Amino acid sequence: MSDKKARVSLAGSQDVIELPVLEGTIGPDVIDVRSLVSKGVFTYDPGFMSTASTESSITYIDGDAGVLLHRGYPIDQLADHSDYLETCYLLLKGELPDAANKQAFTDEIKRHTMVDAQIAQLLNGFQRNAHPMAVLISLTGALAALYHDSLDVDDAEHRHLAAIRLIAKMPTLAAMIYKHSIGQPVMSPINSLTYAENFLHMMFGVPAEGPNVSSVLAKAVDVIFLLHADHEQNASTSTVRLAGSTGANPYACISSGIAALWGPAHGGANEAVLKMLNEIGDESRIEEFIAKAKDKDDPFRLMGFGHRVYKNFDPRSKVMRKICDEVLADLGVENDPLFRIARRLEKIALEDQYFIERKLYPNVDFYSGIILKAIGIPTSMFTVIFALGRTPGWISHWNEMLSGPYKIGRPRQLYRGSPKRDYPV
Ligand code: SDX
Repeated sequence: MSDKKARVSLAGSQDVIELPVLEGTIGPDVIDVRSLVSKGVFTYDPGFMSTASTESSITYIDGDAGVLLHRGYPIDQLADHSDYLETCYLLLKGELPDAANKQAFTDEIKRHTMVDAQIAQLLNGFQRNAHPMAVLISLTGALAALYHDSLDVDDAEHRHLAAIRLIAKMPTLAAMIYKHSIGQPVMSPINSLTYAENFLHMMFGVPAEGPNVSSVLAKAVDVIFLLHADHEQNASTSTVRLAGSTGANPYACISSGIAALWGPAHGGANEAVLKMLNEIGDESRIEEFIAKAKDKDDPFRLMGFGHRVYKNFDPRSKVMRKICDEVLADLGVENDPLFRIARRLEKIALEDQYFIERKLYPNVDFYSGIILKAIGIPTSMFTVIFALGRTPGWISHWNEMLSGPYKIGRPRQLYRGSPKRDYPV
């Protein structure tokens, strides 16, 4: 515990308020402002640019250095040497599993990949062209109806079962949603396949044929899930924590996280990147769109660029770009026009003063959409893939909060409304 202090003096008062300064293992110190409310003062930080909402041991980001650590392990090392389920275990438990624990965790996941038939029934209530994210929010929330009575959020074993169920069922739900949208029969998971193979089989397999999944694409999908697994206190994770702080069912909390992720400023950006690349359409129009992105009077932003925290390359986008090269080459579409436009757009933006001054670099969403499109996943499913990948992160933060003392999240405000006035009688 550091004895560093911060001092705040308030205009019109002789008082000097001393506030503790707390130190993390790495990263910025934080000023503990909890005592301010007893002095009748709030802090003000819309968008939480300067606010640490919690303490956590799961993920660390150094935005200036472009560093992302999961339980201390750099994301590029995990992408090179680990796999998605092992990273799920790491996020949840805090340590890499030994071989026995990894196998036990994998087997436990495999036992929960099926989705209750009643949940599958709900699917038929949606039009085939319903946005997949709307359907995923609904089906994940419906799991809350199914498991509501078999869960004590204060019981670590119950929380572990909820984590297993959610990680296990997300690929099945995602594939069900896709099959419903194209009018094909829903595929059951096959437990002899790996997690990513199973996902691709349920997405693109048909009952008339046995599984036939490319190992290159399965590896690429596994790394894409891994790169999306967690990212500190981002908007959707903060939504899950806030919902969880009321004691709500984890399935309801994850459904709220999926809803928050949908926005184009957050997880919806991967879908928006593809829409933007299609709108640009040709390398000759790139400068026109760069100019639009720089025009203050034009709401257009270069989707897939910029980040609240990274003021350097998003380390995930570097790995994603490498996968992009590999997948497009494996599929023989390395001259994909959208990929060419993306590479040229990245080069031009990184040399442009507007982007350099604002430290706007490609983020995780910039290349993921191109890979997913090349694999054959429709644009409308891109954010569903992001939600699938992010599930272990959401549930790890939910679990971390509930594993210790916590309070219901309830921010205050700066009131700018009318002073008290009487109703005209
Ligand atoms: C994700 O938080 C996370 O960790 C999220 C995420 C995760 O894993 O959970 O990493 C996933 O959400 C990645 C981000 C995906 N979103 C996009 O790619 C959408 C495009 N990017 C922007 O909307 C924006 O960059 C944000 C929302 C990502 C960040 O916005 P900030 O931090 O609030 O920054 P800002 O809006 O205050 O912008 C600062 C300046 C502004 O210009 P000035 O007013 O200073 O002149 O940069 C400009 C902005 O206009 N700017 C952009 C831009 N992003 C910011 N200009 C053009 N194109 C852009 N993409």
